[in-house]
Amino acid sequence: MAIREILEVPDPRLKTVSVPVEPDEFNDELKKLVEDMFETMYDAPGIGLAAIQVGVPKRVLVIDLQPEDPDADPVECDHDHGDGAHTHPATKNDPRVFINPVIIEPAEELSTYQEGCLSVPDIFADVDRPATCKVKYQDLDGNHHEENLEGLLATCLQHEMDHLEGILFIDHLSRLKRGMALKKLKKLRQAA
Ligand code: NI
Repeated sequence: MAIREILEVPDPRLKTVSVPVEPDEFNDELKKLVEDMFETMYDAPGIGLAAIQVGVPKRVLVIDLQPEDPDADPVECDHDHGDGAHTHPATKNDPRVFINPVIIEPAEELSTYQEGCLSVPDIFADVDRPATCKVKYQDLDGNHHEENLEGLLATCLQHEMDHLEGILFIDHLSRLKRGMALKKLKKLRQAA
């Protein structure tokens, strides 16, 4: 596994429309990409990452709404794995992979979350999106799935799917608010 470089605005590659993963591309290279994406996302840390954010224009997303909390105390394991007493991280990861995702039934009802993005560091803003949605996607073995999503997972998936079309969450803001966000980012970078 390897941590890859995350592209940040205004890198023009973030505007790329990503291409589908073809049937003959569900291979070790894809698995390696997904492993690297998880490692990169956990390291950042973030809860979602699209392949284009590491410069790969493929329709691949990873999401984990429950990244391990490095500051949490590990808990005593109550199972015997044959390796004696040991501990596990207090929080359990919930890694999700979505390949070639398509939203088929977005709800009319909207919900608002304060969003951020690893490609737009340190900027947060409220974005309205359909509160629930049904998504079709493939897993790492190419199997097809359908799932109803709600809450933060629905929002996060839609945010990541925007990346596949070259859209960032700040593109959902008014011109004024987007301008302010980019100005703030520029200032933060100059101060760093
Ligand atoms: Ni993002």
